[in-house]
Amino acid sequence: MMTAGPVFMVILGATGDLTHRKLIPALFNLYLKGRLPEELHIIAVSRHGINIDELRGSYRDWVRENTGQGFDDGQWSRFAALISGLSAGCKDMAGYGKLAELLGQHKEPAAGYLFYLAIPPGFVADVVAKLGRAGLLAKDDAWRRVVVEKPFGHDLASARELNGEMHKVLDESQIYRIDHYVAKETVQNILVFRFANTIFEPLWNRNFVDHIQITLAEEIGVENRGGFYDQVGVVRDIFQNHMMQLLALVAMEPPASFTADALHNEKVKLLRAVRPVPAAEVGKYAARGQYRGFREEPGVSPESRTETFAAIKLHIDNWRWHDVLFYLRSGKRVKKKYSEVMIQFKSPPHIMFPVPEGSRPTPDMLAICLQPDEGIHLRFEARVPDTFAGMRSVDMEFHYEESFGASAIPQAYERLLLDAFAGDRSLFIRNDGVEMGWELMDPIIEGFQSPQGPPLETYEPDTWGTAGADRLIGRDGREWLQGCGKKEDESGIVR
Ligand code: BG6
Repeated sequence: MMTAGPVFMVILGATGDLTHRKLIPALFNLYLKGRLPEELHIIAVSRHGINIDELRGSYRDWVRENTGQGFDDGQWSRFAALISGLSAGCKDMAGYGKLAELLGQHKEPAAGYLFYLAIPPGFVADVVAKLGRAGLLAKDDAWRRVVVEKPFGHDLASARELNGEMHKVLDESQIYRIDHYVAKETVQNILVFRFANTIFEPLWNRNFVDHIQITLAEEIGVENRGGFYDQVGVVRDIFQNHMMQLLALVAMEPPASFTADALHNEKVKLLRAVRPVPAAEVGKYAARGQYRGFREEPGVSPESRTETFAAIKLHIDNWRWHDVLFYLRSGKRVKKKYSEVMIQFKSPPHIMFPVPEGSRPTPDMLAICLQPDEGIHLRFEARVPDTFAGMRSVDMEFHYEESFGASAIPQAYERLLLDAFAGDRSLFIRNDGVEMGWELMDPIIEGFQSPQGPPLETYEPDTWGTAGADRLIGRDGREWLQGCGKKEDESGIVR
């Protein structure tokens, strides 16, 4: 619910990458769609002395370059007028005084204040404490919210500590922890697909599902984030957050209502049912690798042992998923960028067709294509015409672009900002969700670092990762599959 009066969005870290690449483009798009709060003041705060014309110019250059021909100068100038600047370092208490003074100059009572911390994670606790000390988080008639970017800590203990520090000055309801994956249209569609239809949910369990694969593959390497990534690795960067959230959405029970707490309760309940992998047994459940050339990336140690690829097998100990295997994999510098959830169904119990000895029809597969080419594919067996009993897999496909138009999918940050202004925390991560992610991933990280853990394999860029990942799934008689994109294999059982 929007309340009347001006809204102030304070961006701390306004000259940084995130503000240029994500926040300003998303705000500008929302402006073009007429969806920003009626009176919005954006205050760009940075320790680098701000010249507002230069800063607006550098935002404009970024947006124009990435918009292409559709960029409208007039609209941009009207939008840019909403942005003002403040030079203040986030370590220095005096800066918070200046900010409070600036905000105090507006006579009309504010509807609310959104503090967006686009700053390195190590500063978050201190900045929140200082915002509190400066009276900027005071409880009064205006809402006051703080948006925080991942990573939330680097293990369970530090995440708990960070949550504890934030809770000293903020209620949980004021904290908006971003996981941009959750706000992707296709990820939100998992809920609609599962719970606004009746034909899929009855199949969504151990009686029909053989196993589930979730893949988050990236063609790019670490780019200019080598130093950061070398400290973090793929488990902290992707599995603890994006992957755990996807797993929860795919496997959780239906929430009773579409409210933030109902959703978060179900997600956390699901994560609590994931069987923890003991650190000493990580070799049985996970494989890891590093792409060739990672150690030569700027900022990366030449002796780095950090994994840029991992595959993990998990069990969920509840009635719905007992004995169903979940295979998760993610890596950088693999063959192509794509993310999907692939559900493979069980084979029919009895094959009445006269198939050759030893062959079986390919099991049905449902793929939720998260990106690119967003959509849903259902692969099933069809009769090959003009054969005696030939069969082959065919796809039934839904593509967002075809059904809703090429520009239907907004950037995740648009949705997140809109929800933060509106006070809807459904797509943000609650403290217990963050902590559960760490609880499950900490032993895996520990196992990876131990000499008894799975070896760090080198994989060639532009491949699908390590042989260890193939062995991990191969031991269970399965293989990595790609359900999205065009089907390349035309083979089938033909008689
Ligand atoms: C970020 C990770 O959270 O997600 C990056 O830190 C990764 O390493 C990115 O590249 C992937 O997000 P997207 O939306 O580009 O798939």
